[in-house]
Amino acid sequence: MISKKAELEYGICSENELSADDSKVLNAARQALKNSYAPYSDFHVGAAVMLDDGEILSGSNQENESFPAGLCAERALLGYVGANGGNRKIVVMAISAESEGERRDVTPCGICRQTIVDMTRRQACPIKLVLDSAQNIIVIDNAAHLLPLSFNFDK
Ligand code: THU
Repeated sequence: MISKKAELEYGICSENELSADDSKVLNAARQALKNSYAPYSDFHVGAAVMLDDGEILSGSNQENESFPAGLCAERALLGYVGANGGNRKIVVMAISAESEGERRDVTPCGICRQTIVDMTRRQACPIKLVLDSAQNIIVIDNAAHLLPLSFNFDK
């Protein structure tokens, strides 16, 4: 048997080490979580992207009375970008979360990771990911690396 290893390389930094653009996208994600609808989990998530023309779009998690049928912030936003972004590419995506009014650590769930990988394939260009947390910021240069051996519907 051949043994293979998938490693994730990521950076941890403070907010003032972010580039001006990354900082703008992070702040848009923090703003977006104010529009989260999460009465069931009380976990409010905001996501924002910067497209290659500089436009910033954002989204938030939208829960459903038939919890857990709601939508994560990342997928709410990526669905919107897929439907309305034309052929513009996502350069960077930021995610931020709050619960009980306090900032929380947040990393994309499994389904969102697959959706981010799909979007990366569609646009044939890596998406940088900026993850907010109570302490530091995590930066991943290629968000698709978060899901090694992701599903690829190769018909
Ligand atoms: N949630 C997101 O919006 N993004 C994630 O990556 C993880 C989880 C939402 C789903 C649900 O509304 C709440 O957070 C608790 O799971």
